[in-house]
Amino acid sequence: MNPELQRKIATRITQLDVKSSTDVQGLFAQLRVQFDRELAEQRDLQGLESLRQRWQGRKRSLSVTIREHWLNVESPLKPFVGKAFNEFTEYVRTALASLGRQFQAELEQRQVAEQELDLTLPGLQHRAGVRHILTQTKEEICDIFARIGFSIVEGPEVETDYYNFEALNIPAYHPARDLWDTLYLDHAASALPDDLRGARSDPNSLLLLRTHTSPMQIRVMEKQPPPVRIVVPGKVYRHDNPDASHSFMFHQVEGLAVDRDITFCDLKGVFDFFLREFFGPKTRTRFVPSYFPFTEPSADIHASCHVCGGSGCRVCKFTGWIEMCGAGMVHPAVYDYVGYNAAEVSGFAFGMGLDRFAMLKYGIDDIQLFFQNDVRFLHQFRR
Ligand code: PHE
Repeated sequence: MNPELQRKIATRITQLDVKSSTDVQGLFAQLRVQFDRELAEQRDLQGLESLRQRWQGRKRSLSVTIREHWLNVESPLKPFVGKAFNEFTEYVRTALASLGRQFQAELEQRQVAEQELDLTLPGLQHRAGVRHILTQTKEEICDIFARIGFSIVEGPEVETDYYNFEALNIPAYHPARDLWDTLYLDHAASALPDDLRGARSDPNSLLLLRTHTSPMQIRVMEKQPPPVRIVVPGKVYRHDNPDASHSFMFHQVEGLAVDRDITFCDLKGVFDFFLREFFGPKTRTRFVPSYFPFTEPSADIHASCHVCGGSGCRVCKFTGWIEMCGAGMVHPAVYDYVGYNAAEVSGFAFGMGLDRFAMLKYGIDDIQLFFQNDVRFLHQFRR
């Protein structure tokens, strides 16, 4: 800085040869020239920061000195000095900021150039996932039942013989066991913690992978008095060879409603409602006699084919109907196992193949697709 200006800054304004507002402006004009010169010498952000400290730093900066000698002094020119001082401060601030932005942009450009960043390369895509179509279907089914008062519970996939068979009125060596191609584990029931094994399971019998979700009927009724209204989604396992409609692991949704005066009509009404909600309002249901050891009477529930509407097509094998679910009124023997009074309560149960529902609703023709985890398949079901 030229010594003349340096001297002026260090001198009280009353001792300078400043008599009018024009003189004040002249004084500040000299400051601007000085600042502009110094600004023009800057080449980078660091230099700019030192310049800011020099002119506008909170302590010992030129601004502080100027304010002290020119502004904080009683003089008739004070209003002009104040105005000019503010304008100058603002000028410096703006000039520093704008050059700062320019340096910053140049810096970024240099960095990009140094990294040889090729903006034409495709970026990394983070594709949002989708929930598995079976999970979506499970939730859809459970939501429908939740709307009419059913609670959702889940249970163990490793079961004892007692819960999977015996308490469901399927004693050992009964031919009905052939309906379930069971996978046994190389462990006895004694391996389970007491509360899971339950008081009635034979500790020496082999554990198994549950063949259906029906054991949860027993587990729930054992734990609570009637009324019961539950649906139980979950994995089940059978000794099946894989093909387009079989898998050693698949999914079921069990249902159970027990109370006083529950009749077959309630079962029909619930299923009418459920199937219409799930497949659409035109869906019709029909009940066909069937057999399960733990229900009496038992039925297979069919839905009118949602593809052809009942006139017959490949999906329904030209019958117009599709088998959806096993069901029936809970067998009195089952109530004996759980300590319910069979003379007082009645109820219905059903068990449906979740995978089957998803296949029919979404036109999937091979159950294996669910478990191969090919994202090209899974990604189609984004809702
Ligand atoms: N558990 C039966 C099965 O897996 C289905 C079913 C459940 C039937 C409840 C009647 C009542 O085949």
